[in-house]
Amino acid sequence: QQQRYFSQELLDWYVVIKRDLPWRRHSNPYFIWISEIMLQQTRVDTVIPYFNRFIEKFPTVEALADAPEDEVLKCWEGLGYYSRARNLQYAARQIRDQYGGIMPSGKEEVASLKGVGPYTAGAIRSIAFNVPAPAVDGNVMRVLSRYFLIEEDIMKTGTRKLMEELVLQLIPEGRASDFNQGLMELGALVCTPKSPKCLTCPVMVHCRGRIEGMEDKLPVKAKA
Ligand code: ADE
Repeated sequence: QQQRYFSQELLDWYVVIKRDLPWRRHSNPYFIWISEIMLQQTRVDTVIPYFNRFIEKFPTVEALADAPEDEVLKCWEGLGYYSRARNLQYAARQIRDQYGGIMPSGKEEVASLKGVGPYTAGAIRSIAFNVPAPAVDGNVMRVLSRYFLIEEDIMKTGTRKLMEELVLQLIPEGRASDFNQGLMELGALVCTPKSPKCLTCPVMVHCRGRIEGMEDKLPVKAKA
């Protein structure tokens, strides 16, 4: 019941308030992939102009695969973590050579792409293909640990697995894309690390973390 409420309210909220971001205007899997890689270590506001320039210069997997590496790196200049750009081009060549230039949607295929870990694979498959796959990153773990009062250490692999199982149960039939993006949006705009904005939260009334006054103490993250 607490689960049904969460899924329904989150979805209703997301479709109304979702930000108009350039990668949300098309469900082009290539665009979704580029955006997720850029967003891994970089804020949305910073990513937007880089994303627009990147897809203008390299509009398709093929264009990226065939480009000289220094042009790809030049387009990445200022974003940092340059291995992301090198992996992106490596993976574009994987897609070109192994999948005929078409981004695959299968779990194993997407996960085999260089630079694509479990979170990014789930994000690409759910957002671009609407496949019911979990996309659990730190933001999503923060939201879930608060709402469901999960006090497990989020640095443990088992905790991520538990959250992935939970997300699979929570995704409403046929709504994986909006649901996962809603989770991300809630973590980014409302259920923030410091001073979460509970009064504007669509799922506040059943949030166990908030009810127990624990929202500031969650998620539990053991010191490394
Ligand atoms: N952070 C990671 N993925 C995102 C997305 N698709 N939209 C907004 N923020 C994100």
